Amino acid sequence: MNDPDYKLLQSQLSALLAGESDPLANASNFVALLKTAMHDVNWLGIYVLRGDELVLGPFQGLPACVRIAVGKGVCGTAAEKLETLRVDDVHAFPGHIACDAASRSELVVPLIVETRLVGVLDIDSPSLARFSAEDQKGIEDLCAAYCAAQSGSARFI
Ligand code: SME
Repeated sequence: MNDPDYKLLQSQLSALLAGESDPLANASNFVALLKTAMHDVNWLGIYVLRGDELVLGPFQGLPACVRIAVGKGVCGTAAEKLETLRVDDVHAFPGHIACDAASRSELVVPLIVETRLVGVLDIDSPSLARFSAEDQKGIEDLCAAYCAAQSGSARFI
């Protein structure tokens, strides 16, 4: 399977967000767009920062753990470090939180609106090392565009 066409996804995202300001609707469509475009992905969604916890937001996949403390698991570590984590084998990541036992590799991108951490995007695959450096760059760019579109909103979700 080929990587998604990230340039095309950028224009599709921009069309989806155009003219709509509701943050929950926009986050839901962002997640649905990515899940539809990416092969070999069993879970894809947003965890929203509420206080010092990440709380489950819009997602596609099996029901998942609702709260993750900042600093815990792959998601909480990415949120704490404010950097993308691309984990080729989640079983080798100390403290990985297994929500879907099928997940073997994971990509987590912090979501930052106007320099403020608002959450993370989490993508899980049942295949080892599913995510390439190109996927990371493509998803980071989409997250940046998504966050830029949310600037000025009173709330993130
Ligand atoms: N694996 C994540 C938890 C979230 S689920 O994958 C949906 C983690 O270690 O933070």
